[in-house]
Amino acid sequence: MKVFINKRIPEIGLQMLNEAGLDLTIPENQNLSPEEWLRYCQDADAILNVGQNKYDQSFFESCPNVKAIALFSVGFDAVNIDEANKRNIPVGNTPDVLSRATSDIAFLLMQSVARRASFNFEKVKAGEWGDFDPLHALGQELYGKTLGVFGLGRIGFEMAEKSKKAFDMNIIYHNRSHNEEAEKELGAKYVSFEELVSQSDVLSIHASFTQEHADLFNQAVFEKMKPNAIFVNTARGGFHNQTDLYNALIEKKIWGAGLDVTNPEPILHDDPILGLSNVCVLPHIGSATVEARNGMAKFAAENLIAFSKGEKMPHCANPEVYQ
Ligand code: DGY
Repeated sequence: MKVFINKRIPEIGLQMLNEAGLDLTIPENQNLSPEEWLRYCQDADAILNVGQNKYDQSFFESCPNVKAIALFSVGFDAVNIDEANKRNIPVGNTPDVLSRATSDIAFLLMQSVARRASFNFEKVKAGEWGDFDPLHALGQELYGKTLGVFGLGRIGFEMAEKSKKAFDMNIIYHNRSHNEEAEKELGAKYVSFEELVSQSDVLSIHASFTQEHADLFNQAVFEKMKPNAIFVNTARGGFHNQTDLYNALIEKKIWGAGLDVTNPEPILHDDPILGLSNVCVLPHIGSATVEARNGMAKFAAENLIAFSKGEKMPHCANPEVYQ
């Protein structure tokens, strides 16, 4: 089976795929143009995809040989699942193995913004340490505050658990369904979206992104948040309207924002949000630990090896293809 891998992944995954006898193509050039990328896909039976390449109707029509896609991500918003289902194409993803790492980044952003860490670091780098000033660059403490989790699945649970243990935060959440484990273990309370927005001191997004969520966090929502609220997005940039977020920050409708994902992504280098003192932006590094990336490589390899043997992918975003 010919497998196209668009970027090198950790050795553990490559070794598994090689040992399984799969025929791997990994181009020297790790930054293919869209046309080059498509040509490699057209020549493959299966794809191990790194990054946000789009798998839409036009892709599937121009790559009729492709029979399986293994994503090197938990999120599968880049794939039109209906189009994959129509063609019986299983789409693998990498849940669980990156939950700890990604929630660590949400937790880090929450604290970085609360204590204005990146702003203060910028000042130190610019030689502006300055005199001790009792009133300058004050942060806020998180103890006993309310964390609102939008999407309480595996990553949201880990963020909630850390926040509970570290700062005894009250956990509220809004989700498609109740999370009984979080309610029992963390005392998490299910609330409406409106309550989540108006009651959270920190609002952290951990849901899977679909087009229905595009710009969900917009001016109308930021207006309803607390003035001390910290907005954290480590899920997908499409959840927030970045101009509205910028306006909410400069108009002090909310207190600060921590973003590991931006809209658009990558963020433009002259995006005015980067100049704000109450913002910390990271370049989508939620899963960027050795442990998580090894786990992702292993899951992606397991998915392709299972597919090559005619078995079900063990980590599949569209298990309905097997029914
Ligand atoms: C994921 O796994 O979905 C990460 O956001 C990387 O895309």
